[in-house]
Amino acid sequence: MRAAASSPAPFTLRPLTPHLGAEVSGLDLAQGVTPDVFRALYDAFLQHQVLLFPPAELPPAAQVAFARNFGEVQVHVMTMYHADGFPELYRLSNLDAEGKPDGKHPDKGTLYWHTDGSWRTVTGQATIIYGEIVPESGGETHFADMYGAYERLSDDWKRRIAGMRAVHNLDFSRTRRHGTDLMTEQQKRDAPPVEHPIVRRHPETGRTCLYLGDHAESIVGMPYDEGRALIEELNALAIHRDLTYEHRWQPQQLILWDNRCTMHRATEYDPHTQRRVVRRCTVLGEEPVGADP
Ligand SMILES: [Fe+2]
Repeated sequence: MRAAASSPAPFTLRPLTPHLGAEVSGLDLAQGVTPDVFRALYDAFLQHQVLLFPPAELPPAAQVAFARNFGEVQVHVMTMYHADGFPELYRLSNLDAEGKPDGKHPDKGTLYWHTDGSWRTVTGQATIIYGEIVPESGGETHFADMYGAYERLSDDWKRRIAGMRAVHNLDFSRTRRHGTDLMTEQQKRDAPPVEHPIVRRHPETGRTCLYLGDHAESIVGMPYDEGRALIEELNALAIHRDLTYEHRWQPQQLILWDNRCTMHRATEYDPHTQRRVVRRCTVLGEEPVGADP
């Protein structure tokens, strides 16, 4: 534990945009954080939605230990991504056994706006991602504020979607974005489609947010094609340039975000010439609760 535990917040926060995101300076996450420091950090997480930490060495075990402060860490159903002997870590890499770019993008689903774990009954709370090797160009991570997305909907839209539920399905989003069915029958059984409200109340801030993204396949009680069109339209309406933070990575940075009130996506990079290795873990949150209109 840190010797600096006597101070409740031995770090500084610098906003990354006027609305979303803050950079945290002054903490060495590899040393662990005390409960007091974590509480202050968690308050910043709830307030800013996205937290960025400057470049620092962070071994896989320390990343998992830090993630456990937030809650139970998800073991991902797609076991091929497990990293360094830690089933809680999910590594995305385009390197071959010799460390050269293999020309394949490891997860094309990440290129579309989504929220982690929305395909589970208990959805993602924080995702914590560490950049081991990052490309010189491309491979950015973008974040969008879903409180603002809801607030900016017209009253007509708000009335229309009040009480509506969407079906989220990992098999749908992966097959769609990769153009091929990647999941085994067992993985599909482990991750069946689930329903969540489109308009969600954040369980801690109490604020209302839009909750959809790329794993959302259909709308409960609506013809499939009509639901698809509505989801596409709302996913596009949810993104506002001035409510977005676009992060260009430096090696060894760490970013964490609140999946309950943000969406994120990665941007393209050339997997033939650029190297990108990131490891992430997602903390389990709760079953989403709808917001009263
Ligand atoms: Fe993601």
